[in-house]
Amino acid sequence: MIGRLNHVAIAVPDLEAASALYRDTLGAAVGAPQDEPDHGVTVVFIELPNTKIELLYPLGKGSPIQGFLDKNPSGGIHHICYEVEDILAARDRLLGQGARVLGGGAPKIGAHGKPVLFLHPKDFNGTLIELEQV
Ligand code: CO
Repeated sequence: MIGRLNHVAIAVPDLEAASALYRDTLGAAVGAPQDEPDHGVTVVFIELPNTKIELLYPLGKGSPIQGFLDKNPSGGIHHICYEVEDILAARDRLLGQGARVLGGGAPKIGAHGKPVLFLHPKDFNGTLIELEQV
């Protein structure tokens, strides 16, 4: 059911420093910061030949990644995103297998303008999983 790895998201305590690290030290193609107020994050996309890295930084109060950064002050991998062809079919299959879908199971529009869902990390080896319909 899952397809390509769409991105790995890394929460960072300093977006400029993290962007410079990927651009200057690792030599990657680093995009401009984009505010995503609906998701409480500012995002920087890094294009790699086979996938993307998404740097996440809190935006506004109550950002969903603030708690993560409080627990991981130097940042860390926050989630990984797999592509699916049909997000509602994927959701129904997962619910049928007993997996927990976060946020009531209704897809939201994600950072790439496509429908996304998140799956409970306790059901997936301690990893927060995002599914994105492509
Ligand atoms: Co993501």
